Amino acid sequence: MDFPTDFIRFLTSATRVAVLTGAGVSQESGLRTFRDAQTGLWAQYKPEDLASPEAFASDPKLVWDWYAWRREAIKGVRPNAGHYALVEMEHRIPEFTLITQNVDGLHRFAGSQNVLELHGNIQKVRCSNCGKFAEMWDEYTEQVPQCLICGGLLRPDVVWFGESLPRAELESAVEAARSCQLFFSIGTSGVVQPAASLAHAARNKGSVVVEINAEPTPLTPKVDFSFHGKSGSILPELVKAVWRI
Ligand code: OAD
Repeated sequence: MDFPTDFIRFLTSATRVAVLTGAGVSQESGLRTFRDAQTGLWAQYKPEDLASPEAFASDPKLVWDWYAWRREAIKGVRPNAGHYALVEMEHRIPEFTLITQNVDGLHRFAGSQNVLELHGNIQKVRCSNCGKFAEMWDEYTEQVPQCLICGGLLRPDVVWFGESLPRAELESAVEAARSCQLFFSIGTSGVVQPAASLAHAARNKGSVVVEINAEPTPLTPKVDFSFHGKSGSILPELVKAVWRI
């Protein structure tokens, strides 16, 4: 891909960069996007019917089993070249914040350090009552496993529809978006709030906004640079073009 010279020059000299990623970044690792994740047994359900406090209250075992199935599905899944290119970027940019909507943990697995998981992490499990994280649990039991401290039902540490985002992560993400010189929106449809508003927050503060996505999104008309294609190809090409690695 040919990157505009002014964009390359800008990235070369940038010292504060924020990146927002979405499901598209994990697509080349073989993970289906959130709304595609329903297959086989689960095809009859909408994600909204499984990923909500109401669903957990009315049928906790159904919700637990869906997440157990999703945890099983991501076993053996590995980061792709896009994840690794973002690790390289972090090594070269003094203040680099990676904000992700993905719950798969692949950015940290690849080696990214400063990661804000806005929607939580599917591999972590906490008590729905007292909030304490569980170290171990029985994935496939008759009943939803219970907290060893208070007996509350365990649940995945992800943000469900209708729930607030983790406050500290969101505040750090907004701060990173407002203070960066360059903001990347990568592999996200940009429709889910409040993550989607981060690009606008960056732009309002004068940051250059860049989009990398397989297809145009609602954000596309508002960005300074837009690159269409797979992030697993474009990101390594970009890192090579800027830092010759
Ligand atoms: P989406 O599934 O809404 O969007 C994925 C985006 O990635 C689309 O715009 C695709 O065109 C693009 N895409 C697909 N493959 C790609 C590739 N190889 N390279 C680059 N782009 C690619 O996923 P998100 O935007 O992450 O929230 O969805 C945001 C949130 O919606 C999720 O975190 C989830 C859901 O509601 C919660 O669970 C709270």
